[in-house]
Amino acid sequence: MTIRRVGVVGLGTMGAGIAQVSVQAGFDTVGREITDELGQRGRATIERYLNRGVEKGRLSEGERDGALGRLTLTTDLAELAECDLVIEAALEELELKREVFAELDRVTRPDAVLATNTSALSVSEIADATSRPERVVGMHFFNPAPVLPLVEIVRARHSSDEAVEAAYSWAEQAGKQPVHCNDTPGFIVNRILIPLLNDCVRVLDEAGVEPEAMDKAMTNGAGWPMGPCALIDLIGVDVHVHASEALRGKLGEARMAAPERLLRMQERGTLGRKSGRGFYEY
Ligand SMILES: NC(=O)c1ccc[n+]([C@@H]2O[C@H](COP(=O)([O-])OP(=O)(O)OC[C@H]3O[C@@H](n4cnc5c(N)ncnc54)[C@H](O)[C@@H]3O)[C@@H](O)[C@H]2O)c1
Repeated sequence: MTIRRVGVVGLGTMGAGIAQVSVQAGFDTVGREITDELGQRGRATIERYLNRGVEKGRLSEGERDGALGRLTLTTDLAELAECDLVIEAALEELELKREVFAELDRVTRPDAVLATNTSALSVSEIADATSRPERVVGMHFFNPAPVLPLVEIVRARHSSDEAVEAAYSWAEQAGKQPVHCNDTPGFIVNRILIPLLNDCVRVLDEAGVEPEAMDKAMTNGAGWPMGPCALIDLIGVDVHVHASEALRGKLGEARMAAPERLLRMQERGTLGRKSGRGFYEY
């Protein structure tokens, strides 16, 4: 199938990034927010990143204006009726996502592909809220979506080959590096990275290592492009703890649980870059 028009539900951290990827790749894109104000905020985020791209010489003013011109905003899910692909990036709550998908099922064309950007929920359980689970897939982008190339294309219990391939091929057209996977907790990267980061934090206390030393060790000894403490600061301690709890709940493995130290940081509000302080000061 040919995808021409894309809908993005939620223009928060991930949705704004995904909408930016879509308009920059030349797709007419409808961004749906719950209020006009949040919609404008999402557009302003996209504009800011595109302006930065112009300043750094990565894109021309014409390309920026063209990309912004392809973005329309709405608060009404029914305005996604003509979209060939809808990517949902609303809050990570199963019931909320199921409601959004039930409504998308009512308002979009029967052949539209409906994708969720969930990190840790079951795509199949979200798909089951629709009358056409064969058209539902996972498209798991990474933060920041315009920068990180990977998109995990998740085949849920009833996803059709055609819907999976449409999502994969759109991601390629949008300049991404998609990979296929099944609907298992954490998919590929989070299933591996979350317990690994938790182990790194445990080692801080077990071995009496400072965050700087841990990051120096893992960048110089394991070839990581960024140390684990700097990475958790970038992800956000709260986001990481939430994802750890979700995986722990699904897989029941102790390694998935967030270490005490991260829970204390969350309580204190030292969440990383976004709060000005985490393992490091910003
Ligand atoms: N932040 C990350 O690093 C990351 C990475 C990959 C995937 N995800 C996933 O992407 C999704 C969005 O995460 P985010 O970090 O962008 O969150 P966010 O808090 O930045 O954005 C959440 C969005 O949900 C919308 N929303 C709130 N209440 C709603 C409602 N009742 N109905 C519809 N929409 C509503 C908000 O307006 C906002 O646009 C989640 O499923 C998350 O697990 C996040």
